[in-house]
Formats: sequence, structure tokens, C-alpha cells
Amino acid sequence: MLVADQLSKEYTVKEKGKRTRLYAVKSVSLTIRPGERYALVGESGSGKTSLAHMLAGITVPSKGKVLLDGQDIFSARKRRSIYKKLQIIFQDTESSLNPQMTVYKLIAEPLRNLLKLSYVEEKKRVQELMNRMGLSVELCKRKARELSGGQRKRVSIARAIGVKPDIIIFDEAFSGLDVIVRKNILELLHDLYRELECSYLMITHDIDVALYSADTIFVMKDGEIVECAKCKGNKKCFKHEYSRLLLQ
Ligand SMILES: Nc1ncnc2c1ncn2[C@@H]1O[C@H](COP(=O)(O)OP(=O)(O)OP(=O)(O)O)[C@@H](O)[C@H]1O
Ligand SMILES: [Mg+2]
Repeated sequence: MLVADQLSKEYTVKEKGKRTRLYAVKSVSLTIRPGERYALVGESGSGKTSLAHMLAGITVPSKGKVLLDGQDIFSARKRRSIYKKLQIIFQDTESSLNPQMTVYKLIAEPLRNLLKLSYVEEKKRVQELMNRMGLSVELCKRKARELSGGQRKRVSIARAIGVKPDIIIFDEAFSGLDVIVRKNILELLHDLYRELECSYLMITHDIDVALYSADTIFVMKDGEIVECAKCKGNKKCFKHEYSRLLLQ
């Protein structure tokens, strides 16, 4: 279980030569329970990625705590045990994947770091993952900088699901992908959810994707969660005026 307790993130930005404070996330509390599907929606700049990076232990919060199975992820000494349980797929795959690394190495890296597999097992697992993500084996030796945006997204997903984590955070996993690939990935996500018995948080600005892929939807506006709706696919579940506005 992942618990965010009054998380805030403040950035200092320069505006017209003056330093000012920007509150990207304001005192957000939420819980990701085992085996449940969540989505986080909100318009661009509402603070979704900033929140996701704190939940995944990548950005230190200005205030508040993140607890993974009761353990504070920022004070935990065993980072490895955290990444084995929790994986994030970054919105920006261009900067999150090392451009010089080959597809094989990129997918094998988390397996090597977090699981103790033999060379043969590793190779088999990488092949399975590539297959699953519709990446042809010929891409194995290709470097990340030589891939298309959609291929990079699929490599990122393969990296994250390979270690079979309990919780997966998808930050705009579908943006920049065409309709067919999006549909394939959404279906794959359903299969994975059933197979891995994991929970996930799907971050998207597309409320239809959220309704399709999650039972509980958090709506974020200006750094705050304004609504937590238990939708189960029903568009009429939203009570907040802003959520209804997003639907339109
Ligand atoms: N490293 C940073 N330094 C300063 N400001 C930042 C930084 N990262 C994000 N911000 C600002 O914080 C706010 C929230 O940004 P964030 O990326 O979390 O939004 P988002 O909801 O993920 O947007 P999008 O849907 O476009 O991905 C924005 O105003 C953004 O400009
Ligand atoms: Mg974002």
C-alpha cells in the first residue's frame, strides 16, 4: 500500500528577473491500495508529474511523507526493495532512457539490479518482455536514441513491468501514440493487472482513458486533489464542477 500524507512541492522559479515560489503540489493525501486501479487526471501544469515523482521517491517533497507498506520511502536505506515494489513509467522517455544504451540493456538493467537471474533466464525474460510489448527482436541492438517515441514508450513499459512490481505509476503512457498502439497498450495493461495482481496509477489528461482504465479517479487542479471519485466506468460519478468541465 502506498500512502501520500500531505505532500507538497514548491519550486523556485525566475520571473522577470525575480525569484518567486511556485506551488506545484499543495498538501495532497491519497492512498493506493493493493490490487486496485487508479487514475489521476487534470489539465497540463496541474501538478500530476510533480506528484508522481514524489510518490515514486524520485523528487523529495517540500513537505509531507510517502509511505510504502509503512516505510518512509525517503528515509529507507534499501532503495532496491522500493524499486522492486514500485515502478514508474516516465512521461518524458527521451530524457529518462539513456540514449546510448541498447534496447536489450535497457530492459535487462532493472532485472539485473533487482532480481538475481542467470544469463539464460535474463535473456529469456527480455525476449518475453519485448514480445509482449510488440517490439521485434531485431531492435535488441538498437540504441535508445535511434528509436521512435512509441518504441521508447514501449521499452519504458517493458522495463517497469519486468520486475513484477506491486505498484506501477504510468505518467502519460499513451501520449504521442497512435490509436492502435494506445488500444494495444490499454489491453495489455488490463492483462497485466490481472496477471501481476498489482495496483496502478494511470496519469492522463484524457478522462476517457481514466474512466476506461481505473475504478477510482483523482482529479487534480492547481496542485490540489479536488475530487476522488469511485467511478467504475460511470461518467456520472463526478460531483465536482471542475471534473464535469474536464469531461466536456
Ligand atoms: N523542475 C521544475 N522547476 C520549476 N517548476 C517546475 C518544475 N517542474 C514542474 N514545474 C512547474 O510545476 C507545475 C506543475 O508541473 P507538472 O509537470 O507537475 O504538471 P503536469 O500536470 O504533469 O502537466 P502535463 O500534463 O503538461 O504533463 C507547472 O507550473 C510547471 O511549470
Ligand atoms: Mg506531466
